[in-house]
Amino acid sequence: MPQPAKKPFIDVLSGQRQPVPPMWMMRQAGRYLPEYREVRAKAGGFLDLCFNPELAAEVTLQPIRRFGFDAAIIFSDILVIPYALGRAVRFEVGEGPRLEPLDDPAKVATLAAHADLGKLQPVFDALKIVRGALDSQTALIGFCGAPWTVATYMVAGHGTPDQAPARMMAYRHPDAFSKIIDVLVDSSIEYLLAQLAAGADALQIFDTWAGVLPPTEFVRWSVEPTRRIVEGVRAKAPDAKIIGFPRGAAAQLPGYVEATDVNGVSIDWTAEPSFIRERVQSRVAVQGNLDPLVLISGGAALDRAVDNVLANFAEGRFIFNLGHGIQPETPIAHVEQMIRRVRG
Ligand code: CP3
Repeated sequence: MPQPAKKPFIDVLSGQRQPVPPMWMMRQAGRYLPEYREVRAKAGGFLDLCFNPELAAEVTLQPIRRFGFDAAIIFSDILVIPYALGRAVRFEVGEGPRLEPLDDPAKVATLAAHADLGKLQPVFDALKIVRGALDSQTALIGFCGAPWTVATYMVAGHGTPDQAPARMMAYRHPDAFSKIIDVLVDSSIEYLLAQLAAGADALQIFDTWAGVLPPTEFVRWSVEPTRRIVEGVRAKAPDAKIIGFPRGAAAQLPGYVEATDVNGVSIDWTAEPSFIRERVQSRVAVQGNLDPLVLISGGAALDRAVDNVLANFAEGRFIFNLGHGIQPETPIAHVEQMIRRVRG
């Protein structure tokens, strides 16, 4: 019987350190790639691209073909969940997402209790196409936004620097805000399970705005909903491998890891290395954390920064990544330089 080929990315999440850390980049399918810009131009709008299975699969595979990363992440967005809940969601070129604001209890009372996952069938179809095209060593990552981060966009209707609208709503109207979070928890569990069924090997929960919350609110709105999602997914998929990314909350990762039971955490570039090694990497896999700006800069500074990340974390269970998404202006040659430096 031929043994199924091992996926180094999954092995790290299962607790086995790899001699060369597996690597991928957040936002690896994106505007820094000319082949992405070409497909994006012919797809129409951003959501048209997300919901076109062939084209979404194509842009998911582009960075794998070009760079041979150890994991592909399905091309979609965290805001497809509000869309499946019947909220209006648009992406304006150069402006980012626009949603109909959900900023008072009366509006929350009209929020659907369940997402219509049928509206997300193109995402599942794209996962199946990608699964069929990947070799047996390359992992496929499905994802969702954490309820807190998705709620910040739903409440404000757009991105803000500090997510004040959602923070204010959580203080003023905790019951209405809880209802949004509860709906997002349930929808995210169903959505992640459907992504596993369509061929995802692992899941990442993006909590981009976790770092704006005071510690008690962080536990209530970020940790606890994430814990419920992990529990809900594992109730039906006990072996599901899950990475959490509460960006900007590195100091609170020990409690986050303990409570949520994730298999790994993604860290941004501000995390203090010895603290992470001793209090986090001793228990779960760590993923990160090159500053995306040093990847734009390149040169000797990039080499030093890559070496530093490896020196900090590669002795333990580690997945090399950026501390947040790659920026559109990043030169491709710098990505190649980074990959050579990591893989030797
Ligand atoms: O990582 C990948 O390659 C997979 C695809 C992916 C996208 N968005 C595609 C995308 C993933 C994992 C996301 C997650 C996402 N989306 C997050 C969490 C992670 C993070 O980056 O913080 C958030 C907060 C969003 C919401 C969102 N989507 C914003 C704020 C924007 C506008 C800002 C921007 O970068 O343009 C988007 C649009 C978006 N999502 C783009 C891509 C490739 C750019 C759209 C384009 O190509 O025109």
